[in-house]
Amino acid sequence: MKPDLQIEIGGVTWKNPVSVASGTFGYGEEFANLIDLNALGAIVTKSITMKERPGHPPPRTCETAAGMLNAIGLANVGIERFIDEKIPFLKKLETVIIVNVAGSTLFEYVEVCRLLEKAGHFDMIELNVSCPNVDEGGMEFGTDATSIIKVIGAVREVTTRPIIAKLSPNVTSIVDMARAAKEGGAVAVSMINTLVGMSVSIHDWQPRLTNGTGGLSGPAIKPVAVAMVHKVASAVDIPIIGIGGISDTADAVEFHLVGARGLQIGTANFVNPDTSMTIIKGLSEYLKQRKLASIHDIIGKVQLRS
Ligand SMILES: Cc1cc2nc3c(=O)[nH]c(=O)nc-3n(C[C@H](O)[C@H](O)[C@H](O)COP(=O)(O)O)c2cc1C
Repeated sequence: MKPDLQIEIGGVTWKNPVSVASGTFGYGEEFANLIDLNALGAIVTKSITMKERPGHPPPRTCETAAGMLNAIGLANVGIERFIDEKIPFLKKLETVIIVNVAGSTLFEYVEVCRLLEKAGHFDMIELNVSCPNVDEGGMEFGTDATSIIKVIGAVREVTTRPIIAKLSPNVTSIVDMARAAKEGGAVAVSMINTLVGMSVSIHDWQPRLTNGTGGLSGPAIKPVAVAMVHKVASAVDIPIIGIGGISDTADAVEFHLVGARGLQIGTANFVNPDTSMTIIKGLSEYLKQRKLASIHDIIGKVQLRS
């Protein structure tokens, strides 16, 4: 019998736990000729902001040991063009559509979500709270529990869609941030976003990214992400979508074992766009080999050494 990969997050059913991470999969259509989009459990769009953004000047990505740095600077088409140009494609797909929303003020998050709600044809919102909060002097929304509660609470007023809070790892206590997300009304947390990193050229002594620092992603961050998912799963009763360096089935299983219900594949999409398809098949085979009927038979089943 074929193992059951179906999961449910905030009342929304995913046919399998494998989705793709914001900013690594465009608006979905960029990958339409490369993989079967409808085979994915969910698609997460690039972060959408109120206004169109060109992002930071290049170079804005560079390779590092077992990973990469990026300082894309939230380049995106803005909410109006997203609704006019991207939703018509997304709404034809038979998978869960998650729109990732970013902002630099509380008003911006709320306004983008209000316009999205009016447009419809999507299933969930993922709030990227790793953005500087202009109203609060540039401190990231995601590094302050009160801001997290406030932004999720405000967005909830204008949407009927379940909200996922995407957590930043650049904090003292990710457990406190997950608790705040739950208190604010998020149905799930997705974690982790990138870790702050920097790389300097020894030839011209300049940072390799124009922005100076960037976000580190890929296999290099996987152990950090696994530890953080495990920590939150042990402390907060909220579904977790695991992200961070997932590149093959073994990585996916590892995240499930420490408590992730859903998964997002990020940097690995750049290495091999087929990664998510391979992992969906691989999870099914892993369960079959172990004579397990459902993906739930491995979620949170890590055996801690005493
Ligand atoms: C080039 C690039 C662009 C990204 N853009 C976004 C973004 O717009 N919004 C967001 O929430 N996360 C963004 N991320 C973070 C990813 O969604 C993900 O959280 C992170 O890369 C860790 O997963 P990975 O190691 O599998 O890539 C971006 C990552 C990369 C590599």
